[in-house]
Amino acid sequence: MSKPIWIRHAAQLATLAQSSKGPRIKEQMSELSILKDGSLWIEDGIIEAVGTSAQLAEKYKDRVEEAEIIDATGHLITPGLVDPHTHLPYGGSREREFEMRLEGATYMEIMNAGGGIHSTTRMTRQTPEDELVVQAKRRLDSFLKHGVTTVEAKSGYGLDVENELKQLRVVKRLNEEHPTDIIPTFMGAHAVPVEFKGREEDYVDLIINEMLPAVASEKLAVFNDVFCEVGVFTPEQSERILEAGKKYGLIPKIHADEIEPYGGAELAAKIGAISAEHLLKASDEGIEKMAEAGVIACLLPATALFLREEAAKGRKMIDAGVPVAISTDCNPGSSPTTSMPLVMNLACISMRISPAEALTAATYNAACAIGMEEKVGSLEVGKQADIVLWNVSNYQELQYLFGVNHVKSVWKKGVSVI
Ligand code: NIG
Ligand code: FE
Repeated sequence: MSKPIWIRHAAQLATLAQSSKGPRIKEQMSELSILKDGSLWIEDGIIEAVGTSAQLAEKYKDRVEEAEIIDATGHLITPGLVDPHTHLPYGGSREREFEMRLEGATYMEIMNAGGGIHSTTRMTRQTPEDELVVQAKRRLDSFLKHGVTTVEAKSGYGLDVENELKQLRVVKRLNEEHPTDIIPTFMGAHAVPVEFKGREEDYVDLIINEMLPAVASEKLAVFNDVFCEVGVFTPEQSERILEAGKKYGLIPKIHADEIEPYGGAELAAKIGAISAEHLLKASDEGIEKMAEAGVIACLLPATALFLREEAAKGRKMIDAGVPVAISTDCNPGSSPTTSMPLVMNLACISMRISPAEALTAATYNAACAIGMEEKVGSLEVGKQADIVLWNVSNYQELQYLFGVNHVKSVWKKGVSVI
C-alpha cells in the first residue's frame, strides 16, 4: 500500500463533477464545478475525497501524519487531459510535405500523388514493431508533459492485415508499458493503399472479410474508424465498413466532412457513431442530426490551423446542442503536435469556444468520446487519480496565456509522473 497523497490549498480545483451522466451539452459545458482552496485525498491511485482544504483537514485529522502533502497554493488543478483522437503509432516523418504545402500543394494533391498517408504507410510497414514502440513512447512522454493522461490511438498506416495488426499490437504494448491509458481504434479504412488503386471495392472487402475478424479475434480494438472523404471512402463504403465492425462489437467513429462536405455528419447520426471527427465542412443539417442523435463532435483545431483551413463551427455546434470534444489529431501529416493545451487555446481563438467549454471538451467530453467517462475526465470520488497541477491560478488564464505549456505536475493513477 502506497502512502496517501493529500493535495491541498489549490487556488481553483476544477472538478468537472456534475450529477447528470453522459456527454455535456450547451450550458452544461460551461459548468466546471470549481472549488476554491480545493483539496483532494488520494489512496491507491483512486480519489478518496474531494472538498475544500478545511473539509478534508477535518475528515482526515487523524491521518495527516501518514500522508504525502502537496501544497497547491496559487495553482489551478484539473483532471488529467484526455486526447480522444490520435494516430499515435507510425514510422517516419513528413516535414518535406509541410514545405510542399507552404509552397502551394494541397493535402489531397500530395496524397493522390502517393504521398501523405501513403508515405507514412510505406515507412510504418518498414519499421519493426519494437521501433514503433520506441517512437510512440516518445510521443506519449510528450503528451504527459502537456498534461494528457489518457489517449485514443488509431491504426491506419498498415493498410494490410499484417501491418494493421502490427500497429494495434504496438498500441497494446504501449498500454502495458507506459503509464498513459491508451484506447485502441482500428482504422484500416484510413486510405485505399496504392496496390489497390482502381480496385477500391476489393480493399473494402479485405477490411470486412479479413481485417475486422482478425482485429476482433485478438481483441485489439474498441472502436472502428473510417476516413469518409471525397476520393477516399464514400459514405456507402464507410457505412458498410462501420456496420460490419458493429457485428464484432466495434463502436463506429468517422473522419467526416474534413476537406469537402460529403454527408459524413449525417452518416454518423444515422449509424449511431459515438463521435464524428474534424467536421470542418459539416452541413447545418448534419449538425442538427448529430445533436438529435447525441453524436459527439470531436473537433481538431490544430489540424485546421496546420492545413491553413478555416476551423470547424464549434460555437454553432455547441449552441445547436451537439456535445463537443477536442483533440490534437496527433499524426505526421496534418497535425504533428502533442499539445492539448495548445488545442484548448486554439479552440477558444478559432472556434469561439469559451475557456470553460474548452476545458470540458478536453476532459469530460473527451472521455465520453472514448467510453472512459466512468474512470477519467473529472475529479470525483472513486475515479482514477489522474490530475494536473498548472502554473496558473485559474482556468481562464490557462486558455488566455496561449501557446505555452503551463503544466507543473502530473499524477497518473495517483503516481507522480511529471
Ligand atoms: O485525421 N484525415 C485523415 N487522417 C488524418 C491525417 C493522416 C495523415 O495525413 O497522415 C487526420 O487528419
Ligand atoms: Fe485523424
